[in-house]
Amino acid sequence: MAFSSHHILFIVSALIFSVINPADCATSDGPFIHSRAAYYPNSDDKGSETGRCGYGSFGATINNGYVAAASDLYRDGVGCGACYQVRCTNSKDCSDEGVNVVITDQGSSDRTDFIMSKKAFRKMAQSTNAETSLLSQGIVDIEYRRVSCNYPKNNITIKIDESSDYPYYLAFVIWYQQGQNDITAVQLCETKNFVCKLLDRSYGSVFTTNSPPSGSLSLRMLFSGEDGDEKWVVPVNIIPENWKKGDIYDTGVQVE
Ligand SMILES: *[C@@H]1O[C@H](CO)[C@@H](O)[C@H](O)[C@H]1NC(C)=O
Repeated sequence: MAFSSHHILFIVSALIFSVINPADCATSDGPFIHSRAAYYPNSDDKGSETGRCGYGSFGATINNGYVAAASDLYRDGVGCGACYQVRCTNSKDCSDEGVNVVITDQGSSDRTDFIMSKKAFRKMAQSTNAETSLLSQGIVDIEYRRVSCNYPKNNITIKIDESSDYPYYLAFVIWYQQGQNDITAVQLCETKNFVCKLLDRSYGSVFTTNSPPSGSLSLRMLFSGEDGDEKWVVPVNIIPENWKKGDIYDTGVQVE
C-alpha cells in the first residue's frame, strides 16, 4: 500500500525491460551472482533460534526452515531478513528453481556466501539421489539473487526483547520483514506530541534505545532499495504505553 507508486514504476520498468529483453520477461529480479554455499551439518529441518539476526524462537520456524547464514551479505545486520533465491549450478544434480532462503544468521565457510540449513541445501537438488550427492560435496557452486520476501499471512511484527527494562530500556526485534528492501533506520515516536527518537541497531534485526519515549508509541521504519529509493513506513498500530518484555505486537502493515 505504502509502496504503490514505487510499485507502478516498477511494473512500468519491468514492461519496458521485457520489450528490450523478451527472454527475461517473467521476472523482476536482478541477475544471478556466482558464489559458493555450504550447510550446517548438524541442522535439522528447522532454522536456528540462536542466529546473529536476533530472531529467537521465530528463527526456528521462519520460512519453514529454509534459512541461511550470510557472510558479506549480513552487512552488519542490515542484511537480516533479506530473501535470496539460491540455486546450485551443476546441471546433473541441481534444479532450476533452487530454493528461496531468508538470512537469519551470520557465518562463512570456505569462500561461501551462504551457509544454509540442511533442509534448504537439499531443496536445491533435483532428486533424492542428487540430494545425497550435494550433501556429500558439502560445499557447492551456486548462483544467487535477491528476491522479495513474502509472508501473506503475517504483518510485520515486533517482539519486545527479554533484555528490556520498562520504562528505561527498550529492545525489540523485527519479524516478517517483507519485500526486497532493507530496513535501514527505525524510529519510535510519542503519539501525543510526535517527538521521535532514532533507535540503535544493536545487532541483526534488534533495535534498542536507552531512554524510550513515553506514552503510547508509534513505529517508523525506513525501507531502502538498492536503487537509492527510500520510504518511511508508518504502521497504523501503536505500541501501548505499558509495553513489556516478551510482548508481540502486530504492526498491521505489510510491505511489498
Ligand atoms: C494485518 O493487519 C491488518 C490491519 O492493518 C489486519 O486486518 C490483519 O488481520 C492483519 N493480519 C494478520 C495476519 O494478523
